Amino acid sequence: MVLLCTASSSTTLLARQALLARSAAVVGQSRSVHDLVIKRKTGLPIHRAGPYGGGRSSVSGHVATVFGCTGFLGRYLVDRLAQKGTQVVVPYRDEDEKRHLKVMGDLGQIVPMEWDLRSDQQIEECLRHSDVVYNLTGRAHETKNFTFEDVHATGAGRIASIAANAGVSRFIHVSHLNASKDSPSPFLRSKAQGEELVKSAFEGATIVRPGHLYGHEDRFLNQMASWPLTWHVNYGQTKLRPAHSIDVAHALEVMLDAELTSIGQTFSLAGPRTYTINQLLNLVQSLTFEKIRREGLNVPKFMLKAATKIADRAWWPMLSPDEVDRRYIDDLADEPGTKSWADLGIEPDTVEEVAIVYLRRYRSNLRFEQPVETGGSRLKKGKYHVVD
Ligand SMILES: NC(=O)c1ccc[n+]([C@@H]2O[C@H](COP(=O)([O-])OP(=O)(O)OC[C@H]3O[C@@H](n4cnc5c(N)ncnc54)[C@H](OP(=O)(O)O)[C@@H]3O)[C@@H](O)[C@H]2O)c1
Repeated sequence: MVLLCTASSSTTLLARQALLARSAAVVGQSRSVHDLVIKRKTGLPIHRAGPYGGGRSSVSGHVATVFGCTGFLGRYLVDRLAQKGTQVVVPYRDEDEKRHLKVMGDLGQIVPMEWDLRSDQQIEECLRHSDVVYNLTGRAHETKNFTFEDVHATGAGRIASIAANAGVSRFIHVSHLNASKDSPSPFLRSKAQGEELVKSAFEGATIVRPGHLYGHEDRFLNQMASWPLTWHVNYGQTKLRPAHSIDVAHALEVMLDAELTSIGQTFSLAGPRTYTINQLLNLVQSLTFEKIRREGLNVPKFMLKAATKIADRAWWPMLSPDEVDRRYIDDLADEPGTKSWADLGIEPDTVEEVAIVYLRRYRSNLRFEQPVETGGSRLKKGKYHVVD
């Protein structure tokens, strides 16, 4: 710097040119052919930069919009994308709902934008700079403004067609395991309808069908621990294949670059093991040391549905009548022709491997620190639960 300031103007110019040439050479050396990816669908280049394998100051070259990012699964996906250096547009409805997402990436990397599912213009603004759009928008209960069909079918189809018109190269849509037009649950029927609308609006869309999700903010293990009565249905015999939220977020992230494996495909992302509701209640009981399961107790379906219908109108819905219906539906085996974890190189967790992380908070302070293996005589040594 001292040299540049004291030199004559022509010398300064030459010195600057030399400096520029040197820095260009350095940048050139740090780039490699494998950093350049050409998107299969649009032919547009994606250029990675920064530390290899991600990190806060790396740049993956992708810009992603995650609709439904303010929910349970959304935070884990945004976190994973941001850690890999992807710029993430996070559409939100309530100012407070996106605050936890802002700190997941470097300054300017998480871009919050207000949106409404009924506004084409706002949807277009949210995705116009993105090369990938994730749609996680969904709701377990209907509201006075939005039916299941509005959110899971019409809404999903609208986002997909706006994304297609805007030239977005990937569309990854989160549906639900068991989604079927013939399902007794309106929720699952609307999810199946949504899949069809998305596939017809966006060529090459990827459909993801996770099983019941568990994690810190779930409505699954948390409800079993805090409100077990609502799980004493169908004599505890419904078969479920729960999936870990972190694994599903990982799968969604991997799909972004695994174009060959995932474009135009449907993924069944159920957990690796099938449990009956009774087995899961036993598991929760042995981890929390609380009396969760009442032998012989079975709440009749009509009674639980009636109670949830009343509660639905009186308070913020804790359990919708549709969720009661779904507690009687066995999780299906993966449909032939769908892909799964192995195609993405992911080995999913079983519930008993990780549930303690989410359930320890339900223990009394006296037994909070107790190791899981010491849960009682019915537990096998070294392995805790499934006791039936
Ligand atoms: N949780 C599970 O067990 C499970 C299992 C399989 C599949 N899935 C599917 O995975 C996706 C994510 O699930 P999740 O558990 O993260 O759901 P969640 O916690 O209920 O979050 C749902 C997201 O959708 C948004 N949303 C809902 N209704 C909307 C509307 N009318 N307009 C705009 N945004 C709306 C919410 O935004 P606001 O925050 O603004 O309300 C939120 O960001 C959903 O499609 C769900 O059906 C979930």
